[in-house]
Amino acid sequence: VQNARVEDWKELAANGVLSLLGFVVTFKFIPRIKDKFTEAGLFGYDINKKGLAPGEKKIPEALGLISATVYILCICLLHLFRQSNNVELYTAAFASVTFMVLLGFADDVLNLKWRYKLILPLVASLPLLVLYTGGTSVLVPKPLRFLVHGRSLLDLGILYYVYMALLSVFCTNAINIYAGINGLEVGQSVIIALAVLFHNALQLRPHGSKDNLELLRQNHLFSIDLILPFYATSLALSYYNWYPAKVFVGDTFCYFAGMTFAMSAILAHFSEILLLFFIPQLINFIYSIPQLIGIVPCPRHRLPRFNRDTGKLEAIHTNLNLINLTLRITGPLTERQLCIVLCTLQAFCCATGLLLRAWALTWLS
Ligand code: UD1
Ligand code: MG
Repeated sequence: VQNARVEDWKELAANGVLSLLGFVVTFKFIPRIKDKFTEAGLFGYDINKKGLAPGEKKIPEALGLISATVYILCICLLHLFRQSNNVELYTAAFASVTFMVLLGFADDVLNLKWRYKLILPLVASLPLLVLYTGGTSVLVPKPLRFLVHGRSLLDLGILYYVYMALLSVFCTNAINIYAGINGLEVGQSVIIALAVLFHNALQLRPHGSKDNLELLRQNHLFSIDLILPFYATSLALSYYNWYPAKVFVGDTFCYFAGMTFAMSAILAHFSEILLLFFIPQLINFIYSIPQLIGIVPCPRHRLPRFNRDTGKLEAIHTNLNLINLTLRITGPLTERQLCIVLCTLQAFCCATGLLLRAWALTWLS
């Protein structure tokens, strides 16, 4: 046990140092390369800005490619310090995240239609589905056990694969459609990443039966391995994407972030907790359904209206997302204020999720 602890600390320390390097490289690299994106035609117009008629100022787009590339490099190098014996887990996560970055970048270049956007994460989750050899059972909460003849574990079989694929599709698209004001895409991701890290750190000395302990420890180390470099490289990106944005993160980043969360939650078995951290995205998604399925017309951008006189954003009632819903509750806000309100909501949901989890530990097991 003592040896294992020393190895854990070595692995965590290596991860910490690599993540710090990842932060520095991303931070230095983005300003140097961002204009190349504009030159290559990868740019967008900042829709919520005063006096910015289209054509006035081009903001380089898809800079999530830089943070994702540095992230993948970190994950590769981390391999040198790993003692872990579940190599196939890392390979599966690595393959799906990398594939997702490729498809996300393709989306930024090709500007794909909505229906293809839904399918991309399904394609990218294929490496996970074919490489996954882990269990297919889920833990049934005590109050629901009467439904399954009192059993604590329920084997989902093939349905577990469907569930993994659906979670990948949900996490990626949920982040991508909760977007459109400076700093929100990467802001929400950084906060969720922090919550996942907290969750894992709290679980590194888990409660449970002896044979379970080693498995849980491996799971949480694995998840930290995936999320810490993500947190670091995204934090560097958020510096440039925060209001007023100097770069846009692109669908590359949204898919990359969603897939990284999905992989860490699926392979470290805490997806029900991840969904607690995703409550704003869940609300946004459910509230969006009438527009997503076409009952209410869905414009290309579902953003609030910019009022030139007040400099504030105002809700458009037919744009059914959490951004507009928040503005209906708070009244008009500047873009910066709105992003701070939404990020605070995210942090609040994540904190509640962590508390609920602590409380649930007693009735789940
Ligand atoms: C999703 C949303 C769309 C939202 C868009 C913003 C759905 C179904 N789709 O579409 O409503 O408008 O994200 O990313 O909910 N932009 C800004 N400021 C920002 C970020 C983005 O003006 O802070 C604009 C820029 O013009 C940028 C464009 O949004 O070029 C990027 O849009 P894209 O990510 O391609 O849109 P979708 O993901 O398809
Ligand atoms: Mg997008």
